[in-house]
Amino acid sequence: MMKKALIFGITGQDGSYLAEFLLKKKYKVHGVKRKSSSLNTDRVDHIYEENNKNFFLHYGDLTDAISVNRLVNIIKPDEIYNLAAQSHVAVSFVIPNYTANVDALGCLNILEAIKSLGLDKKVKFYQAGTSEMFGKVLESPQTEKTPFYPRSPYGVSKVFSHWMTINYRESYKMFACNGILFNHESPRRGETFVTRKITIGLAKIKLGLQKKLILGNIYAKRDWGHAKDYVEAQWLILQQKKPDDFVIATGKQYSVKHFINIVAKELNMKITWRGKGINEKAYDANNNIIIECNRKYFRPSEVQTLLGNPTKAKKILKWKPKISVSELAKEMIQNDLRILSHNDKKK
Ligand code: NAP
Ligand code: GDD
Repeated sequence: MMKKALIFGITGQDGSYLAEFLLKKKYKVHGVKRKSSSLNTDRVDHIYEENNKNFFLHYGDLTDAISVNRLVNIIKPDEIYNLAAQSHVAVSFVIPNYTANVDALGCLNILEAIKSLGLDKKVKFYQAGTSEMFGKVLESPQTEKTPFYPRSPYGVSKVFSHWMTINYRESYKMFACNGILFNHESPRRGETFVTRKITIGLAKIKLGLQKKLILGNIYAKRDWGHAKDYVEAQWLILQQKKPDDFVIATGKQYSVKHFINIVAKELNMKITWRGKGINEKAYDANNNIIIECNRKYFRPSEVQTLLGNPTKAKKILKWKPKISVSELAKEMIQNDLRILSHNDKKK
């Protein structure tokens, strides 16, 4: 019998890579998409075209407990991956209530559906936790034992889901696990997250389609991996004998400014930095300003530094990241140059 997976958030970056990964492992993959006035299945359209016998999309919404219940009941999956979220940290300050509805109560809606349908001994559950839960970090690098100090409505909502997942595991003996994933990117990354904003922005400048890129805090440091590596870890977490929680990270950290330098080098753009703090700017070979900072892209409370220690995942899951930050940047740039040059929307 083929295993069945249900993915909430299938139309997102991770959902699309996880679907491809599970189809290769011979799963039947069910995914939940939201109704939208314009097409929102770009990242999975190619999967549907190639695998339509084992790949199914259903309308639903994590904030609608009835639709969650109905889907879990009709599909009766072996594994549920909760990747659905309002996942933008800065946006979570603008719509905190909505963010909490999706990112906190949404997880609870799935846990309750599993329990109330009597599927608690059948279904394995994965919750997409985040390094943002460490926020104003209390130690570095961060491990599974580092206390949380979330700094945004997004981070706070994810802490709720983290503990709910543990609570259902301990109270009802459910196979419910948390991944605590550090930043992971790809050519499919949303265009308002900083890595993709940089790769598209500099590619446009290189092609003469844009003059300047405006960013926020370029001194923030992140532990960046590739989404393809990270979805493998999500699956491995559910294949263990015991349900548990794992930090998934590379163990290496770079500033946003460093990432810009990698991208500029890859694009053969000579840039020079001048000025300090919010006034630091990047200039091209003709002395034109091509990057500057603006406070509007700062968050009301910033997370300055995140660095994960993936020792437990390496030991127990036998997982390790395979793609370096330079390889990641290169893949993103090539994809953006292709899209921009050919007006090719395929990702
Ligand atoms: P993403 O690209 O923003 O995808 C989020 C997905 O959630 C999309 O499919 C989105 O649907 C869906 N969604 C949003 N609200 C929903 C709702 N109310 N009901 C149902 N679906 C809804 O995020 P990602 O980068 O793939 O991340 C996947 C998960 O991992 C998220 O939970 C995120 O918070 C978490 N995470 C991400 C990272 C990272 O660095 N990428 C790190 C740690 C944790 P639409 O396409 O319709 O918007
Ligand atoms: N988005 C954005 N836009 N971020 C900027 C900009 C800008 O113009 N300029 C500087 N930054 C800084 C942010 O302040 C942050 O410190 C860093 O770049 C990374 O920002 P994002 O790419 O938006 O990611 P994030 O770290 O806030 O959140 C992502 O990673 C989390 C895991 O730590 C998201 O994917 C979350 O969903 C995820 O949980």
